[in-house]
Amino acid sequence: MEEELMQIKNSAVSMIIEAVDQKELEEIKLQFLGRSGRLTLTLKEITKLPKEKRPEIGILANDVKRVIEETLENQMSNLKSQKSHEIKKRIDTTAPGIKPNLGHLHPMTQVLYEVVEVFKSLGFQAADGPEIETDHYNFEALNIPKDHPARDTQQTLYLDTRNSKVTPGDIILRTQTSAMQGRIMEKVKPPLRVIVPGKNFRYEQVDASHGFEFWQVEGFLVDTNVRLTDLFGTIDYVLRKLMGKDVKLKFATTNFPFVEPGVDTYISCTVCGGRGCSFCKYSGWSEIMPAGMIHPNVLKAVGYNSQKVSGFAFAIGLSRLVTLRYQMDDLRLLTNPDMRILEQF
Ligand code: DAH
Repeated sequence: MEEELMQIKNSAVSMIIEAVDQKELEEIKLQFLGRSGRLTLTLKEITKLPKEKRPEIGILANDVKRVIEETLENQMSNLKSQKSHEIKKRIDTTAPGIKPNLGHLHPMTQVLYEVVEVFKSLGFQAADGPEIETDHYNFEALNIPKDHPARDTQQTLYLDTRNSKVTPGDIILRTQTSAMQGRIMEKVKPPLRVIVPGKNFRYEQVDASHGFEFWQVEGFLVDTNVRLTDLFGTIDYVLRKLMGKDVKLKFATTNFPFVEPGVDTYISCTVCGGRGCSFCKYSGWSEIMPAGMIHPNVLKAVGYNSQKVSGFAFAIGLSRLVTLRYQMDDLRLLTNPDMRILEQF
């Protein structure tokens, strides 16, 4: 038994000293001191020894156990300090650090948040709607029946309805966030003030001022006694808040089937300061916010009494607003992921 214990001690100690990492030490510990470890099993045998031999062997066994435990502990701390020494040798802790790149909101998002805040201060609520839309909400409910020429101006992208029950042409990518007028007014009784920021899609030739995918913030307000001057006042207030109080604005009549009268809002071109450039097509002005008084047919289509309530609607070309705001001469810069562009905001 004594011999057995001495053997255990010697082999444990030599294994521990040669161990190269913590994992190996754990394994050795288990092998000797674990529940079915070599030392543990040997200790159990002590009870089988004659009574007078037991104290002597007991003392020896405890000694062996203590030595193994101490050696394990020493080797563990040796390995630890060796490791940190090695790391220190490899890392120069006095070298200056590398600053991590912090992300930030895209300029489109920054301006969108601002737009939402300005309208919130006027009592508008923001709503979200589907980018895949029905012909009904995108056109019919907006007083644009099937054969209306206004459809030609909105190069519509149709979804493939083959192998489905949907009538061909009924499901599209929305061409205008105005599509949310019907969806919301159908559910909410006036008075209401709503803005709908969102993406629209058209089959467009992409150039400096057109994208096949572009952002608008649609807005509409319905109440009693809403007049054209309320619309003018709102546009004037909002654009001066967003673009500075000194911007020049002008209104011109225009035609959209869902408003009567229709109004186009122009803002003095911020790229050229009004002198004329390719961005404003050498006119000195940029079209930024089409609007108008909601057509009675639109109000009737959602069940409103057009004799009792009236309203106005508008759309801010958000991509346009951002490019004008930061004097970018090309809309495509907004979807360019080049960090040299994005880091400027
Ligand atoms: N939805 C129109 C478009 O994208 C823009 C528009 C014009 C929206 C007049 C309006 C409005 O709400 O009153 O071409």
